[in-house]
Amino acid sequence: MRDLQAMKDEAARAALAHVSEGAVIGVGTGSTAEAFVRALGRSGISLAGAVPSSLVTGRMLAEAGIPVIEPGTVCGVSLYVDGADEADPMLRLIKGGGGALVREKIAAAMAERFLCIVDETKLVPELGSFPLAIEVLGPALASVECHLCVMGGKPRLRPGFVSDNGNRIIDVTGLDLAVPEELEAVLDAIPGVVGHGLFSRRPADLLVVGLASGGAREITAAR
Ligand code: A5P
Repeated sequence: MRDLQAMKDEAARAALAHVSEGAVIGVGTGSTAEAFVRALGRSGISLAGAVPSSLVTGRMLAEAGIPVIEPGTVCGVSLYVDGADEADPMLRLIKGGGGALVREKIAAAMAERFLCIVDETKLVPELGSFPLAIEVLGPALASVECHLCVMGGKPRLRPGFVSDNGNRIIDVTGLDLAVPEELEAVLDAIPGVVGHGLFSRRPADLLVVGLASGGAREITAAR
């Protein structure tokens, strides 16, 4: 049985097969995305550049010798590679454990292909055990918490955390995720919500899963 980091490393290495020489890609945030940056740096693949989904990933890319493209300066990438906290059989995701969910959603939305790299503990039959991260403008913190309570959620302000965008994050459990696309639309409509970690309307196109038994396997969405 391999440990978690070894599984993340396997997924990250296997993802390299999808990276084309000379491409502009997006790169996500978190320990699996960091494993991907390390693998990419060692791979010898020469990119035109990479758009990071966080300041920390930008620093890592630069340290690995990969040209960094400032977010907000391009409108598309051919591939976006990022981790997730949960992935269901439709490749819908919960993300945001690392707090970079808003920039991650921007990157996923502008990607031709979204490749999600996870260790196999992230695979779930249904989304919803992992708390859902919601980035909120300061003046709306209390009102968003009230909205979430009315929806049956149990919100908790993430202690001491400020996002790269200067906002706080509320982690919420207890919401009904039976139809994630509907919940996504409801959350998007709450005033003061900047973004959230539910990726169902733009799910991953492909999952690359690092396995406890060694190696990695690819999963496409169940129809
Ligand atoms: C960052 O905000 C998150 O969306 C991460 O992609 C997610 O939390 C997965 O993180 P790990 O790769 O560290 O498990």
